[in-house]
Amino acid sequence: MTVIEQIRKPISREFEAYAQVFDTTLCHEEDLQNSVFQTIKSRVGKRLRPTVTLLIAKALGGVNDKTLQSAVALELLHTASLVHDDVVDDSNERRGAASVKAENGNKLAVLLGDYILSTALLSIAQTGDTQLVKILSKLGRTLADGEILQLKNDTNLDVSYETYYEIIEGKTASLFESCCEIGARTTGVDDNLVEKAIRFGHYIGLIFQIRDDIFDYLPSKNLGKPAAKDMREGKLTLPALYVLNTVGQGRLPHSLAKKVKNGTISDDEITEFINFIVANGGIDFAEQQITALAKQAHELADKIAENADEDVARSLHLLVDYFSERDY
Ligand code: IPE
Ligand code: IPE
Ligand code: MG
Ligand code: MG
Repeated sequence: MTVIEQIRKPISREFEAYAQVFDTTLCHEEDLQNSVFQTIKSRVGKRLRPTVTLLIAKALGGVNDKTLQSAVALELLHTASLVHDDVVDDSNERRGAASVKAENGNKLAVLLGDYILSTALLSIAQTGDTQLVKILSKLGRTLADGEILQLKNDTNLDVSYETYYEIIEGKTASLFESCCEIGARTTGVDDNLVEKAIRFGHYIGLIFQIRDDIFDYLPSKNLGKPAAKDMREGKLTLPALYVLNTVGQGRLPHSLAKKVKNGTISDDEITEFINFIVANGGIDFAEQQITALAKQAHELADKIAENADEDVARSLHLLVDYFSERDY
């Protein structure tokens, strides 16, 4: 059993129900759209957002139809954002296979992403709960703003931690926050618990993206997407920022960082830069950040699971551990 399956054990019945709704939601009468949607459904990914949504609801009172419908909407919004992200990043690989844009071109990928995004809104509208619709709609804007902020930074040499955290908060953590908020709200718990759930989502979301960013420095990882691609896209993530903020101006990483930003860095220089970052504590620093965030997330998991069954509480903690330590 994989760690993700272990995490999902207390919600296995609910997750099965989720998967069924998801399968019937993304369909189309036209062959062109339908064949892309079938492909998407055959490469499901880790399905962490519905897992988080259902687990939080389970911990706070139980999964109902609104929770299931919302979990589908959240995974659809995530899927749409990946389809669009691969256009933005000019990335040909996703989930270990060709990305939608690689298989169908940028034009269709933009339009299919729009279609999936709108299907997400339709799904959550089916709950009849305008509060949930609002959360998802705002989330779509926040995700776009996060991606736009990142794009704006691809060419400037801002190496502040603040900007990095603002970007990953917008493009990744906000989605996990909404999963937790929506999961909590569908159970009808009070605002105090909802707020704890949102903070839990915030911490695991940051952890998730920092871990993802670390992967980019470890070329041996086979994650279904190419390594060192962040640097090729002009992105300097936490391990690189640490080195740039601790090593004096004029030293090697600063000149290599400029080349990352103006898109002139060669493959050999990327290797050199990555080796320098690893040797000078960049990865260790990012790991320390994860450890500190995980401590906060574990504390919140205890509070959220105060009245939950033991296996559900255990899964919430296992989720934090998996996000922190995952190698896939
Ligand atoms: C990818 O998310 C986007 C990031 C936030 C790094 P996942 O790694 O959860 O993607 P899938 O859904 O499992 O493919
Ligand atoms: C993924 O971001 C898309 C969003 C989080 C909206 P990245 O571009 O950093 O992630 P990958 O590496 O393509 O999955
Ligand atoms: Mg990308
Ligand atoms: Mg991107």
